[in-house]
Amino acid sequence: MKLAVLFGGISSEHEISCLSAASILRNLDRTKYEIYAVGITRDGAWRYCPTCDVERIENGSWERMADLVPALLPPDRGVHGLVLLREGAAETVRLDCVFPVLHGAGGEDGTVQGLLELAGIPYVGCGVAASANSMDKSITKVLVETAGVRQAKYYLALRHDFERGAEGVVRAAAEQLGSFPVFVKPCSQGSSVGVAKANNMLELAAGLTEAFALDDKVLVEEFIDGHEVECAVLGNREPVASTVGEIAPTQEFYTFDAKYKDESSKLYIPAHITERQIETVRRNALRVYRALGCRGLARVDFFVTHADGEVVFNELNSIPGFTSISMYPKLFDYEGVRYPELLDRLISFAWEERHG
Ligand SMILES: Nc1ncnc2c1ncn2[C@@H]1O[C@H](COP(=O)(O)OP(=O)(O)O)[C@@H](O)[C@H]1O
Ligand SMILES: [Mg+2]
Repeated sequence: MKLAVLFGGISSEHEISCLSAASILRNLDRTKYEIYAVGITRDGAWRYCPTCDVERIENGSWERMADLVPALLPPDRGVHGLVLLREGAAETVRLDCVFPVLHGAGGEDGTVQGLLELAGIPYVGCGVAASANSMDKSITKVLVETAGVRQAKYYLALRHDFERGAEGVVRAAAEQLGSFPVFVKPCSQGSSVGVAKANNMLELAAGLTEAFALDDKVLVEEFIDGHEVECAVLGNREPVASTVGEIAPTQEFYTFDAKYKDESSKLYIPAHITERQIETVRRNALRVYRALGCRGLARVDFFVTHADGEVVFNELNSIPGFTSISMYPKLFDYEGVRYPELLDRLISFAWEERHG
């Protein structure tokens, strides 16, 4: 099977994508897959990397290799794969499947998925609408509400309104939520980029200013004091939910640095919550997965409140972190599904979606 792994990308999570992809490339069974590693630079250039070893993808030096080949993935179904531009001559490679290992904008948001739909190539993970809807936290909120799953109270702030009158927006958000602290989050970022905790009006105003530098829409959310837990979901029509893992950040919340730089954040599998709470998280994870129309995979994140043990939805990631220490593969490993087998299953779900 000819499989292209897409990595890198134009989003703020470029590096994380490279780490995830390196780990996927390490674990794919080479006897089953003929692999085409295609890196997307920060500027959005697509490059087939014929001799990229995983270390080079991990440390970013792949971009400077001399033998990179400009690659196109045209929507043309006749091509059904890559066009490699080697010294002026175009060579086509028919692909059986694509694994987009891209976090954030231009990869996890339905754009690449749309291209792959047009090209008619099976791909791992959620389709166009589910990807787009889970990338935008404000749209996720609306869909999760219809699923009857509890989530943090929120106020949606729009850039246009903020530019016309920042004070009014700050006041309206604070009034609607009723008390501090609150969380400020750009609607379409990931990896905690632009996320801030605000303890008062001044910090809220500063948080909004920073968040609006990254996005046109910003959520202001009620602060949820609880265990931070995550559930991995796998499958198409009959998805299964893993056990629940917990993140114990050593910083004030799970920031970008706590996620990727500070080694001291801890993961617990299973989470330090009761059996019943684990079951509630799993059930709600499946509900949210279905409400958003996900397929393939997603990691669904919740809080379990310290005060009364309530399960509160936080967000859904349609292309979760996939490094060897990431929660998604670890949760399935705990369930007895080893990393290479997990990848096989994801690829067969992609295939099943298109070919039944
Ligand atoms: N309402 C909230 N209450 C408490 N902590 C929050 C809240 N929202 C986000 N956080 C903290 O901020 C982190 C990042 O926010 P999240 O919504 O998961 O966005 P991202 O897509 O960047 O991961 C979370 O992992 C959590 O630690
Ligand atoms: Mg998150």
